[in-house]
Amino acid sequence: MNLVDPKADAYAEAHTTPSGELYERLAAETHEKTSIPQMMVGEVEGRFLEFLVRLVGAKRVLELGTFTGYSSLSMARGLSDGGHVISCDVNPETTAIAQRYAEEAGLADRIEYRLGPGIETIAQLEGPFDLVFIDADKVNNPHYFEWALKLTKRGSLIIIDNVVREGSVLDAASADTSVQGTRRALEMMSAEPRVTATAIQTIGLKGHDGFAIALVTG
Ligand code: DHB
Ligand code: MG
Repeated sequence: MNLVDPKADAYAEAHTTPSGELYERLAAETHEKTSIPQMMVGEVEGRFLEFLVRLVGAKRVLELGTFTGYSSLSMARGLSDGGHVISCDVNPETTAIAQRYAEEAGLADRIEYRLGPGIETIAQLEGPFDLVFIDADKVNNPHYFEWALKLTKRGSLIIIDNVVREGSVLDAASADTSVQGTRRALEMMSAEPRVTATAIQTIGLKGHDGFAIALVTG
């Protein structure tokens, strides 16, 4: 499904503050070394995550799904003094790439990469977090959202990545468990009385994906 004219997406990217040379190298290495580089957040989403971290003055950030680190590095550079990101993933190879760039960027002391399934890691954590970015295995999105509610407080943000998936989420009868998990999580988020949620359908995957943001209000 053609959600956004590529020219409009390129225009938005051209008018976003550049992430810089290190992030460009990280993106290039991700394209070279991984089979699904589109899992990486790009410049626009990376900058937007950083913006949200700055906006809420986040001190504690939790990310589910490190991949090669573009998003954790983006969020870490928006942290105020003493701020910290915990980011978890099951893949040691991609996490090693993230760790290497975090060190080079001088952000390693602000980011703790944890290896292991998100569902196990999240159950071991103590809140509250000021921002939770859910970007791991989509089948578990409903569980991640429930945990995120437990681990946040009023004023925190909960973000779910990839809520459009090139329009595939529109199929209520989809057999794709990622679509099912995402649809269920969005139903929960939009009906949850403790948050106000907005789904944005054009960020990520060159304008063919989206993410949903919930502000915890209660
Ligand atoms: C996929 C996962 C992501 O987190 C993403 O941002 C894009 C694509 C995927 O599973 O295909
Ligand atoms: Mg994603």
